Amino acid sequence: MIVKVKGPSQHRCDKAPDTRKALPQLIKRGDVVRDDPTNNVPDAIFSKLGMQLLHRRDQNPIGIVKNAIYDYFDANYSNKFDKFDDLCPIVSTKENFDDVLVPLDHVSRSYNDTYYIDSQTVLRCHTTANQAELLRRGHTHFLVTGDVYRRDSIDSTHYPVFHQMEGVSVFFPGDWETFGLDGTSYAAEDLKKCLEGLAQHLFGNVEMRWIDTYFPFTNPSFELEMYFQEKWLEVLGCGVTEQEILKKSGKTGNVAWAFGLGLEWLAMVLFGIPDIRLFWSTGAVHLSILKGPAWGQVQAIFKVSSSLQGHEFLD
Ligand code: DAH
Repeated sequence: MIVKVKGPSQHRCDKAPDTRKALPQLIKRGDVVRDDPTNNVPDAIFSKLGMQLLHRRDQNPIGIVKNAIYDYFDANYSNKFDKFDDLCPIVSTKENFDDVLVPLDHVSRSYNDTYYIDSQTVLRCHTTANQAELLRRGHTHFLVTGDVYRRDSIDSTHYPVFHQMEGVSVFFPGDWETFGLDGTSYAAEDLKKCLEGLAQHLFGNVEMRWIDTYFPFTNPSFELEMYFQEKWLEVLGCGVTEQEILKKSGKTGNVAWAFGLGLEWLAMVLFGIPDIRLFWSTGAVHLSILKGPAWGQVQAIFKVSSSLQGHEFLD
């Protein structure tokens, strides 16, 4: 079924009721949906673009998780991390892929996987797309939260729009030399300590394990898993940033770590939200958050009086 999207032909990005600051951009339909063979953005995606800003709503489970992560970084790093949650999701293929070393034949570059506005412009498929630009602008510690877009088919855990948070921390020779370590070992150790602390902040005293993996932008690369409600769950991906990314961004001689996590996924686990489509339900969905003394006791109750309809994205 093709969903016909009614409503305004442009979306102001500053309409969300409880945002902390207004978004600058105004995304018009013609900016993303075009009658052009290189364009594969359907109206259903435009209707989500920059409009709902779930990650900027303090009462939304996605906003709640974002703020809890902010709290962790503010408390443990004395407000050292700059926070960005209003960067435009329209980026160049250079930012989304080339700057972060995604190989030319990587599946994520295909029209099947990513929404292309034209051959050189996409809807970011990960917040990693914002890394290089922020490094170039001189930021050394930052968190980027935003909506990301992938041409996934929809089911209870996949939706073509979701939210990620990216974290980056840059180190200088003095940081690792003091400890008699090489830069990569120092950054990997610091990264693991930081993210284990974050997982504990969110989930309480859970068992965790590190899995070696591959990402184009980091080496070594890891996934953090935690044992929660009798299952091993993937929490995030991370690693030590490839030197080439740093060098191209004017950070020669530095070492950095980076991580990326999915906010819906964390919110679903934390709040027991059974279906990712609930985040986008416009029907009579009511969420009450019951805050207990610790994060482990936070629960969300969804009262769904409409079915999960209207979530097909066909193009
Ligand atoms: N961009 C990755 C994704 O969307 C997540 C990620 C993994 C980000 C490792 C990172 C990283 O910065 O170091 O799946």
